[in-house]
Amino acid sequence: MAIRYEHAKPLVGAIVDADKAQFADAQFADECRELLEERTVLIFPEANLSDEEQIVFSDLLGMRSDYGANMQEDGEDEDESSEIYQVTLDPEIKMDTQYVYATWFWHMDGVTAMQDPPAATLISARNVAGDGGQTEFASTIAAYETLPDKQKAMLGELRASHSVYAGVRPLLDYSIRPEDWDGTYSKFDHPLVWTHESGRKSLVLGVQMEQIVGMKMIEARAMIQRLMEWATQPDFKYRHNWQEGDLVMWKNLGAMHRVAPYKVDSGRMMHRTSLARMKVPA
Ligand code: OGA
Ligand code: MN
Repeated sequence: MAIRYEHAKPLVGAIVDADKAQFADAQFADECRELLEERTVLIFPEANLSDEEQIVFSDLLGMRSDYGANMQEDGEDEDESSEIYQVTLDPEIKMDTQYVYATWFWHMDGVTAMQDPPAATLISARNVAGDGGQTEFASTIAAYETLPDKQKAMLGELRASHSVYAGVRPLLDYSIRPEDWDGTYSKFDHPLVWTHESGRKSLVLGVQMEQIVGMKMIEARAMIQRLMEWATQPDFKYRHNWQEGDLVMWKNLGAMHRVAPYKVDSGRMMHRTSLARMKVPA
């Protein structure tokens, strides 16, 4: 492999040293895909990609998903950047800020919106928060692979339901009942243990988990909490302290992620693309 990188942490993350031109190179993209399978999170410090360059790189890696596309008003011109999802609390940008606040809690993208959540997410930092705004990743591949065999077998039989309501629940006042909430109560079941194309497995976890199918609620909640604690132990985590221009990509179902709280007026702006599937090697 010609790609130059070093490990961020022994069990998760690779910091890739790349020149801007490489992001348009198909062979480099192939090597990134391979490295992603191995390391779960790839960090490209100061890649400084434009939206167009981020789209070109995304398209070399796989098939883009329109998951989470920013809302467009009728009749408004769609410029090229409408293919980029802007993650920001800026009130000038039309979006449902509830979902942006929900990123402050451990989650995986798209688990409440579709049966096949995105394979990978790419985020580049356009504007960083002065205070807070770091993004943390917790490898649920490492979490799965280090479990005792007996527990792997037991968890491999289970499915869990994930809902938007559970995902936004931490933001809502306790007096707000599901029927008072004005969002969409979308919910999907997923296996608790996800098998990736590489054959590696991970745990599908996050704040959106509502229930483990067929289990008593109290037992499910206790199991979810314990699995989340297991998965977020320091050795499985990487915390990214953003510099403007950094690009980070990760296997969406291979790691939970969350953002350290930041202020509405911090100016934090991230540009996101999601990959529905990775390209299959020729
Ligand atoms: C998201 C998300 C991370 C970040 O948009 O789903 O988790 O660093 N963003 O803003
Ligand atoms: Mn996210």
